[in-house]
Amino acid sequence: MKKSDREKELARIAEEIAGCRLCREWGTGEPVPGEGSAKAEVLFLGEAPGRQEAKTGRPFIGRSGKLLRSIIADIGLKEEEVYITSPVKYLPLRGTPSRENVLHSREHLMKQIAVIEPRIIVLLGNTACLALLDRKVEITKNHGTTLQDGGRIFFITCHPAYALRFPAAKISMREDFEKLSALLHIKQKIT
Ligand code: URA
Repeated sequence: MKKSDREKELARIAEEIAGCRLCREWGTGEPVPGEGSAKAEVLFLGEAPGRQEAKTGRPFIGRSGKLLRSIIADIGLKEEEVYITSPVKYLPLRGTPSRENVLHSREHLMKQIAVIEPRIIVLLGNTACLALLDRKVEITKNHGTTLQDGGRIFFITCHPAYALRFPAAKISMREDFEKLSALLHIKQKIT
């Protein structure tokens, strides 16, 4: 698909999200569909928008977003060439999104992924793993690893909000991103 067609499709999905009655039952504020390149090689997946995101409609612009965006830049990726989103598209009414909410919201996410066709999906923490792997993953044991599932490649690391709380997690998140960078370079050498 041409990049301009992908952009149109993503805009159409964003409209679906904005009009989704079920999403609105669990959430509040502006819809936060995601942002970045419609043909991104890497897609970063979080949990759910926070207050700042719900005010502006942009993903990852609060404290954890600043950390995520700075680590993305540190491994030489440009924000405009990746895609940043979350499985849940609205600020949840009560803290962590419910399983029911995640399983519903991922329907929108799946459509976005089918359009973007990223080579690697970076799962930032538990909710991202639940949304796309359908199971709980022990991030402390599995971070920094890739796995293939349903024809897609996933890379596991922690959520930046967790890294902000625990200094050791911040260090290991940076190390994970170095590994991610190496994976992306291997591909560039082959092609
Ligand atoms: N945390 C997330 O998981 N997603 C956002 O968009 C913002 C914070």
